[in-house]
Amino acid sequence: MKELEMTGSKDIFQKCASFEEANRVRQLGVYPYFRSIEETKGNEVICNGQTKIMIGSNNYLGLAQDPRVIEAACEAARKYGSGCTGSRFLNGNIQLHEQLEAELAEFLQKEAVLLFSTGFFVNQGVLATLLEDGDAILCDRENHASILDGCKQSAAKTIPFAHNSAEALRRRLERLPETAGKLLIVDGVFSMSGDIVDLPAMTKVAKEYGCRIYVDEAHALGVLGPRGEGTVHHFGMNQDVDLVMGTFSKSLGSMGGFIAGPEYVVDYLKHKARCFMFTASLAPAVAGGVLKALQILKKEPELMEGLWKNTRKMHKGFKELGFQIGTTQTPIVPIVIGSEVKAFMFAQKLFEAGIFATPAVFPAVRYGEAIIRTSYMSTHTDQELDYVLETFARLGRELGVFEEAAYTGGTKKNGYDFSSNNAEIIKNLRKSSGDAASESAASGTPIPR
Ligand SMILES: Cc1ncc(COP(=O)(O)O)c(C=O)c1O
Repeated sequence: MKELEMTGSKDIFQKCASFEEANRVRQLGVYPYFRSIEETKGNEVICNGQTKIMIGSNNYLGLAQDPRVIEAACEAARKYGSGCTGSRFLNGNIQLHEQLEAELAEFLQKEAVLLFSTGFFVNQGVLATLLEDGDAILCDRENHASILDGCKQSAAKTIPFAHNSAEALRRRLERLPETAGKLLIVDGVFSMSGDIVDLPAMTKVAKEYGCRIYVDEAHALGVLGPRGEGTVHHFGMNQDVDLVMGTFSKSLGSMGGFIAGPEYVVDYLKHKARCFMFTASLAPAVAGGVLKALQILKKEPELMEGLWKNTRKMHKGFKELGFQIGTTQTPIVPIVIGSEVKAFMFAQKLFEAGIFATPAVFPAVRYGEAIIRTSYMSTHTDQELDYVLETFARLGRELGVFEEAAYTGGTKKNGYDFSSNNAEIIKNLRKSSGDAASESAASGTPIPR
């Protein structure tokens, strides 16, 4: 802009103008993000008029499509309107919010629960509000981005430690002043690797050093624990954990999140957490749908049984085919590809074959360890899952995933990535997978029903 140049000011848009990575991927025809979904039908989505089996959601129990949940959401909207148009603090506190908090507290066996408009806000709001200058947050290196952002927003010092290592945690704690306020924060289930946190070992160390404990149950709610209460209940350690957060954007099929813990802490957050106070409350349809989903989860253990049956099938199936799936113990199954280019190409070819899954690349995973992040639902059929395995096997062979050791264990960098131009590599990958046909493949392969 002329005027700006004349002032000599730095243009804050310059970085956007020179941002090339996304366009490079688009030009190569393998851009895997923001795929437009025209309709969702159970385990399938329609994109460009074609049906794709969804193995890239966090809808573990299929409740986002449950007619009872949808009806409860509609009923809440009819009763209260399409939105609350304000914060809980002021005009946006409806009875449904309070009922959902009470039922969640009872389910999780915690004194009190506070709802937030997203799970991201929970982690940001709670960390920024509870931790002060001079305090320390002990943070697993693979914790979710919302936790990392919450750490940044708080005045406390963030101390990362090696993933899932109680020994690394101990070494960090040993160096801290005894009197400092301390919080250990971990994901219960890690969102990319699918690992379960080693809560017994972590808790033992944390307690020795007077550390409060906070577990993010985003991917564990509806997945782990006797009734789907999460990791903390899976290990029978509810008494040992001070705060538990969860989101409604996964097993409970909607959006929003919560923090659960002692009444006096929750009451403090209610009056101090800016992410809670200065944003509109959960829309009635969301609260109504989530409440129904929670009630179904409690009453229908067969949902979790189905999820675990499918999870076991996919762990076994991928391992037998020779794929590396890291250390997952849950329905999140990362298929390690290694190079970013190959992962993007793999995802594109999956899509062309009628399967919806997205790659995850740095910084969501370590550099050189790109994955296809797959995740399974209780509602997937054997036929759908067999087709997924067959297709992965075929593409793994065609794209040379088995020959080229993908997993680098964080040491060897195995990445051609999109910071450079990979047109040639993509062309060769397409060729090696017999892809004169790739254009016609894009018009859709029939998938089994
Ligand atoms: C571990 C973890 N925590 C928190 C969040 C944020 O949840 P929400 O989608 O409700 O903002 C996510 C979302 O992906 C997550 O994976």
